[in-house]
Amino acid sequence: MDWGKQNRMARIIKPDTGRAVWLAVDHGYFLGPTRRLEVPRRTIEPLLPFCDALFVTRGILRTSVDPNTATPIVLRVSGGSSVIGKDLSDEGITTSMRDAIRLNVAGVGLSIFVGSEFESQTLKNLAKLVDDAEEYGIPVLAVTAVGKELEKRDARFLALACRIAAELGASVVKTYHCEGFEKVVEGCPVPIVIAGGPKLETEMDVFRLTYEAVQQGAAGVDMGRNIWQNDFPVAMIKAIRAIVHENATPEVAMELYRECRNEV
Ligand code: R5P
Repeated sequence: MDWGKQNRMARIIKPDTGRAVWLAVDHGYFLGPTRRLEVPRRTIEPLLPFCDALFVTRGILRTSVDPNTATPIVLRVSGGSSVIGKDLSDEGITTSMRDAIRLNVAGVGLSIFVGSEFESQTLKNLAKLVDDAEEYGIPVLAVTAVGKELEKRDARFLALACRIAAELGASVVKTYHCEGFEKVVEGCPVPIVIAGGPKLETEMDVFRLTYEAVQQGAAGVDMGRNIWQNDFPVAMIKAIRAIVHENATPEVAMELYRECRNEV
């Protein structure tokens, strides 16, 4: 691997643990002002010191993130559809490599919609992005998106989508945790980070999901709503970090969450 790409990978996935906690705040690119991400700076600022990378669009990066930050950026570079539009899967690449480099990003990310009407278009987006990004040693994150069809998130579908992403050259794949997740990991030769999905009922549910995912081979999380829609987002991300980087059990994470919650 080229030095530059290896260095970027080491910035976004910690070489000592092979793990990472990324904070996903890109939701507005198709959802608009999502609950508790209405004013992005307010959501992002307190959490930035605790994430290993921030997954964000260029618009929110430029308007709402302090450029003096040392936190690496993984830039969302796909979009073009909205939650009220005809089809969420109708995405293109929305940011040039030149602009990504100008923003000094550590990685770029896009969604692929396997099995959707625009499957081929989004897979070709990925292949093109890898071609362009490899030229500059920039890792590509592929997100195995399901749009509104959350029920699609089973091992068979996710294993297929993750493997295709890796085959087309993604350096990291983001997917969902599921029953039989080991099969998804087994068939994907690049690191996997998991999304949290819509907010779960309890903190313990989030800690269990994260714990199971990393114990089954995930490199970590690229999590959004289950962190920043919580009433105590900093306590939440600290607990998630303990699970990902220190193999803390869900019970230990819960204790830590409670302690940190009392600090604020
Ligand atoms: C969805 O396509 C967005 O890219 C989010 O980054 C992703 O869903 C992760 O956020 P959450 O943990 O809220 O699902």
